[in-house]
Amino acid sequence: MSEKKLSWGVISTAKIGKRAVNPAIQASSNGELLAVASRDEARAKAFAEEAGIPTSYGSYDALLEDPAIHAIYNPLPNSLHKEWTIKAAEKGKHILCEKPMALDAAECAEMEAAAKANGVKLMEAFMYRFHPRTEQVLEMVRDGAIGDLKGIRSSFTFKLDRPKDIRWDLELGGGALMDLGCYCVNVSRTVVGKEPVEVRAMANFRDGGVDQQMAGTLRFDDGMLAHFDCALTMDRTEVYHIMGTDGHIRVLDAFVPGTDAVVIEKFDAEDNMTPMDVAGGDEYRIMVEHFADAVLNDGPLRNTPEEASLNMKVIEALYESARKGGEGMTVD
Ligand SMILES: NC(=O)c1ccc[n+]([C@@H]2O[C@H](COP(=O)([O-])OP(=O)(O)OC[C@H]3O[C@@H](n4cnc5c(N)ncnc54)[C@H](OP(=O)(O)O)[C@@H]3O)[C@@H](O)[C@H]2O)c1
Repeated sequence: MSEKKLSWGVISTAKIGKRAVNPAIQASSNGELLAVASRDEARAKAFAEEAGIPTSYGSYDALLEDPAIHAIYNPLPNSLHKEWTIKAAEKGKHILCEKPMALDAAECAEMEAAAKANGVKLMEAFMYRFHPRTEQVLEMVRDGAIGDLKGIRSSFTFKLDRPKDIRWDLELGGGALMDLGCYCVNVSRTVVGKEPVEVRAMANFRDGGVDQQMAGTLRFDDGMLAHFDCALTMDRTEVYHIMGTDGHIRVLDAFVPGTDAVVIEKFDAEDNMTPMDVAGGDEYRIMVEHFADAVLNDGPLRNTPEEASLNMKVIEALYESARKGGEGMTVD
């Protein structure tokens, strides 16, 4: 790894930046967080002071003009990911963009084209993919630890009690599938290693059009099914089960496991469970260090923009199905 450090700026005072990603950049071995921008100058200043960020800006544009910044972390509401990622790319900045990368696959493709045209790297911030446990689970499945793959069940729910939250706003790209189900879709596609051919979903939509709860199924070309549920109105659960011919794997606290040691629960065909210990790690820090390494050494990214587009295609088809009362939708 290069001795150099990647200089980052974060656009907005988003909660996820404050809670996880900004501290991860500050703790990273190959990055430094030089600036934060907000729509409100006083908010940016107060945020910078509290977080020990040297510079603050009263607009995102002003931060993008700073020549000392080489990478942008974009945790804006989903509907603004595209606009500000493209603006950043046009200023020659590399971009780590929050999940889901955009509102649809067409937007992802535009963002990818802008990154390519400007010679910068773009990655969707699916941090759970960087947790050491995720890699270990994928390896176990590939190595046949549970026999042949038969199916996947996943769930991500929590109770959102902030009435003004961006997740309740359709215009800002809110909704349970956009916020939480995107992880279930991602883990299902990643474990299977290919794209579903058809999806179906049913959802409870709120006034205003945002899905507060969804249950969906992905069908693959060999008939295998992956099904999931997500909700912004239910107690917190984060879990996925990978079912095989010779047993199954259960992963609890699947997407945001914290930094402590975790386990993979492996069940044999007789339902005997063996817990497999995995050392803890900060998935956010591993993610930002991977991104910085790829930028500094012009290496490959593990989450490519093409991959973000593929995930969005499935999400789009699930929404279409849910709006049509569960009709089957093919995924192009
Ligand atoms: N990977 C993860 O673990 C994880 C977890 C949570 C969220 N996320 C993702 O991170 C993103 C942000 O989520 P969050 O919960 O952190 O959001 P949030 O706290 O509401 O922050 C969004 C920020 O965007 C700025 N903003 C600009 N235009 C806005 C508008 N019209 N309405 C509201 N805010 C606006 C605001 O900052 P200023 O006013 O300072 O400009 C606001 O603080 C989303 O894409 C979400 O899916 C990822």
